[in-house]
Amino acid sequence: MSLSTWLNRANAVVSFFSSVFFTVLFVVAATGPALLFASAPPQVSVAMAKASVRLGRLGYYYDRTQPQTELATIHFDLDADLSPLFNWNTKQLFVQLVAEYSTESYTTNQVTIWDDIIASKEDSVIKLKKKKGEYALSDISNKIGGLQANLSLQWDIMPHVGMLIHDKSAPHQITLPKIDGKKK
Ligand SMILES: *[C@@H]1O[C@H](CO)[C@@H](O)[C@H](O)[C@H]1NC(C)=O
Repeated sequence: MSLSTWLNRANAVVSFFSSVFFTVLFVVAATGPALLFASAPPQVSVAMAKASVRLGRLGYYYDRTQPQTELATIHFDLDADLSPLFNWNTKQLFVQLVAEYSTESYTTNQVTIWDDIIASKEDSVIKLKKKKGEYALSDISNKIGGLQANLSLQWDIMPHVGMLIHDKSAPHQITLPKIDGKKK
C-alpha cells in the first residue's frame, strides 16, 4: 500500500469518526431542550415571609462616602421541585430568587435576593422557610420602601452540550413595607 493510499484511508476514517462525534453532540444538544419541553414544568411556590426596610449604606461598613440608601431585607418561603429540569443533557442549574419592580426612571429592575447552584437531581427539591435573603434590595433612587415587586424563581440550565436555557416561575406579587419610623 502506497503512502498516499494509506493517507486517504486514514483521512476517511478520521472524517467518519468526526461526523459520528458531531452527530452525537448534535443529538444530545437537540434532545435536551426537547425533553424539557415534553416534561411537566417544575412546581414552584414563592412567598414573602416578612420584610423590613432600613437606612444604610452599600459597600464596606466603614465606607462613609456612599450615600445613605433604603435597604430592604426580605425573608422568604420557597418550595420548589426542579427535578423535571434534569435530563441526560443537564449538567447543573443556576437558580436565583429575583425581585422585579418598576420605578419612574427605569421600567425594569431586577435584583437577586438569593441564589444557588444545583448540581444533581438528588438536590433539586428546595424547601426553605423564613430564609433571609443573602442580598439586600436597594434602588438607584435610594428609595425602596412601599414599592410593589414581583418575586419569582429563575433558573439557567447549564447543559453538557448546547446552549444555556433560561426560564422562571410565575410571579408572586409583594409590597415592601415603608421604612421603619424616626431617624431620617
Ligand atoms: C407583576 O407581574 C404581573 C403579572 O405578570 C404584572 O401585571 C405586574 O405589572 C408585575 N408587577 C410589577 C411591580 O412588576
